[in-house]
Amino acid sequence: MDGIRLWRSYSVSSSAGHPSGRIDVTVNAVRDGVVSSYLLNNARRGMVLNLDLPAGDFVVPRQRPAKSLFLTAGSGITPVMGILRSLVHELSDVVVVHSARTSEDVVFGADLRALAEQGRITLIERHTGAEGRLKPADLDALVPDRFERETWACGPGEMLDALSANWSEAGAAERLHVERFRPTVLIAGEGGTVTFERSGKTVETPGGVSILDAGEAAGQLMPSGCRMGICYSCVLPMREGIVRDMRDGTVTTAVEGDNVLVQTCISAAAGPCHLDA
Ligand code: FES
Repeated sequence: MDGIRLWRSYSVSSSAGHPSGRIDVTVNAVRDGVVSSYLLNNARRGMVLNLDLPAGDFVVPRQRPAKSLFLTAGSGITPVMGILRSLVHELSDVVVVHSARTSEDVVFGADLRALAEQGRITLIERHTGAEGRLKPADLDALVPDRFERETWACGPGEMLDALSANWSEAGAAERLHVERFRPTVLIAGEGGTVTFERSGKTVETPGGVSILDAGEAAGQLMPSGCRMGICYSCVLPMREGIVRDMRDGTVTTAVEGDNVLVQTCISAAAGPCHLDA
């Protein structure tokens, strides 16, 4: 876009091994979503997009669980749809609890309801516009055996935080697998001036903005992949400076000549930074 290559992570929502070799990704345009809005308005047959290798651990193990539960909200259904389309015939007892504002807002609503009608899944829809947001306590009645189920959850950060706390309290944390759209920002750094030494670009960044986002916004060509701290595609050497890990607040410093490697997608400037890029 405008000469800058932007990378985003999307879930494969089609079944694995489609004979055509094609995959689907499902893009929901989000407010202020630079790439999602661009794709929605401009994606055309013949457009060339670069794909990186898949990354992450939101996967069903080869040893299929006896009972599974998928807890999703909004576009959090997309990785689960890929799993269901690929594997539902190999899973025996599947419950899907999905939240969306209204019945019409359910992404893949027709597909999910068809799977339920075929008896492949037990589908519980939560329409938050009328019923309010799903809380972990609501699951006591909806899925009484939830802690016995291998569970995959994908949706907004607050929902995943609440579910993680609930599963931990029940001593079942190892059975809950979550997929986050973006890293949870726990502690914002103070920000600072980031200098990209090779290109000569500089950008003022506030503490809550990743160096990756700030660099891209300033027109710097930035390597990236998952944008959530998993794949290490975004690593750049920091010659000198101080950054804060936006997930846990860890501060990393480099003095001149150190060349400390920094994951730019989850690091915010916490003072002046000089990057070798
Ligand atoms: S883009 Fe994947 S770790 Fe930063």
